[in-house]
Amino acid sequence: MLAAHNLTKTFNPGTPIENPVLRGLSLTIESGQFVTVIGSNGAGKSTFLNAISGDVTPDGGTLAIDGQDVSRLPSWQRAGLVARVFQDPMAGTCEALTIEENLALAWQRGQRRGLGPAVKKAQRELFRDKLATLRLGLENRLADRMGLLSGGQRQAVSLLMASLQPSRILLLDEHTAALDPKTAAFVLELTDRIVQENRLTTLMVTHSMRQALDHGGRTVMLHQGRVVLDVDGETRARMQVADLLSMFEKTRGETVDDDALLLG
Ligand SMILES: Nc1ncnc2c1ncn2[C@@H]1O[C@H](COP(=O)(O)OP(=O)(O)O)[C@@H](O)[C@H]1O
Ligand SMILES: [Mg+2]
Repeated sequence: MLAAHNLTKTFNPGTPIENPVLRGLSLTIESGQFVTVIGSNGAGKSTFLNAISGDVTPDGGTLAIDGQDVSRLPSWQRAGLVARVFQDPMAGTCEALTIEENLALAWQRGQRRGLGPAVKKAQRELFRDKLATLRLGLENRLADRMGLLSGGQRQAVSLLMASLQPSRILLLDEHTAALDPKTAAFVLELTDRIVQENRLTTLMVTHSMRQALDHGGRTVMLHQGRVVLDVDGETRARMQVADLLSMFEKTRGETVDDDALLLG
C-alpha cells in the first residue's frame, strides 16, 4: 500500500522563482491497485512520482509504503521498493551494457548476495524465458548492447526489469509518450500484462484521457499540486473521454476549490 499524506514541496523557496509544486497532496493506494494519473503541465505529476522514488525530498507531509515511513529515505534505500519507467527510453536502461547485464542489475537490486556461476546460468535461462514473453526476438540477443535497441524495445525491457525487482510500487511517467502509436499500444498492452501478473501497485502518468480511462481501475487528476479528481468503480466506468476533458479544461487557469471535483 502507498499512503501519501499532505505532501508539500516548494522549489527555489525564498527566491523570485519560488515554485510551490506540491500543495498538500494526499493519496492512498491499496496494494495491487493500478491508478492512472492525469493533469496539465506543471501540475506536479512528475514531482509526486519523484517524491515516491526518493528523487525529491518533500518539505512536509508523510509518505509510507506498506506501513513503512519512507518520507526521508534516500532513493537508493528505496530501490527494492520502487521501480520506474521514464518517458525517455534512454533513461531507464544503461545503453553501454548488454541486455543481459541490464536485466542482471535489476535482478540483483534489493538482493544482498553475489552470484556464483551455477546461479548465473540459471539466471540466464530465466532472462531468456522472460524476454521470450515479449515476443520481440530479444531472447536471442542477450549479448547485444542496450543502445542497439529501438525505443519501444527498450521500454519493453525496462518494464521487464521492473518486474524482476521485488518492488512494491511501479511508477510509469508517460512511458509511451515518445513512441509511435503502434509501439505505444504494444508497450501499454505489455504494461497491463506485467502489472497483472506481478500484482504491482502502479501509478501511470499519461497525457491521454483515453489511456487514463482504459487502463487500470482508478483515475486521479492532479492540479496545482493536489488531487482534484479521484474516480473508480461505476463512476469511472460510466465516464467518457469528453467528461474527463471538460473537467481537465475547467482546471486550466483557475484555482479549483478543494472538493470541487472530488467525485469519489
Ligand atoms: N528539480 C526541480 N527544480 C526546480 N523546479 C522543478 C524541479 N522539478 C520540477 N520543477 C518544476 O515544478 C513544476 C512542476 O513540474 P512537474 O512535477 O514536472 O509537473 P508535471 O509532471 O505535472 O508536468 C514545473 O514548473 C517544473 O519546472
Ligand atoms: Mg511530468
